[in-house]
Amino acid sequence: MSDDRPLLFFDSGVGGLSVLAPTKLLLPNAPIVYAADNGGFPYGTKTEAEIAARVPALLGRLVERYHPRLIVIACNTASTIALGAVRAALDLPVVGTVPAIKPAALQSKTRAIGVLGTNATVRQPYVDDLSAKFASDSLVLRHGSARLVELAEAKLRGEATDPADYAAVMAGLLDQPGGDRLDTVVLACTHFPLVEEELAAASPRPLAFIHGGDGIARRIAYLTEGQEWPDARAPAIAVFTAPFDISPGLAAGLRARGLEEIRFL
Ligand code: DGL
Repeated sequence: MSDDRPLLFFDSGVGGLSVLAPTKLLLPNAPIVYAADNGGFPYGTKTEAEIAARVPALLGRLVERYHPRLIVIACNTASTIALGAVRAALDLPVVGTVPAIKPAALQSKTRAIGVLGTNATVRQPYVDDLSAKFASDSLVLRHGSARLVELAEAKLRGEATDPADYAAVMAGLLDQPGGDRLDTVVLACTHFPLVEEELAAASPRPLAFIHGGDGIARRIAYLTEGQEWPDARAPAIAVFTAPFDISPGLAAGLRARGLEEIRFL
């Protein structure tokens, strides 16, 4: 018997597409609802209290509307602040996205890694804990950037972005004391893998960029193992939390990433 309950992806904007893409490779017929909280965007400059109040309530509304089988919080900021509250509030499996510090520390040869996230993410105790647990023998430098989130959104809309902006972000990380030792950079915001090529091109030397997308996709496949899926792929739905005029560029960018239908919550 086919089960058409969707996977619900949630982010403040288009960043969660970097988690959706590897998931679709593993589960091609999974019905998808991709929710972007444009009404609350950006998250990275908000307070912990604002995010903790907003995310569980919105997810509750989305669950009532779409009856997903599983929720993916495809946002590091929301996950590092509100994952526990969401799990406590909803009786559904919830997969979070947290900075990939463990794999980065495992692969760094110089024992020095960078964590590039939003301002809210890089100051979280969650990041302190991951660093203490998995990278205690390494230097862990952090840099928060709201600009890089905007650049990723602009790129998805098909707009040109300035290489100097990416260079400035990389300098924020690499120019810190010890930054010359970094060999691995964690993209700890789901928007950032969307501009990984630009970051690599703007880096003064080759660096390994690492993010959690593939691991999260495997986790989703594991948690839904044995479940039924529709026989064919249904159009994936993008849901925005606040009404606005969707530009042709954004519609094309979403379509190119497999989100064919656009709705508002
Ligand atoms: N994509 C989000 C993250 O992973 C947050 C971007 C933002 O809204 O600031 O942290």
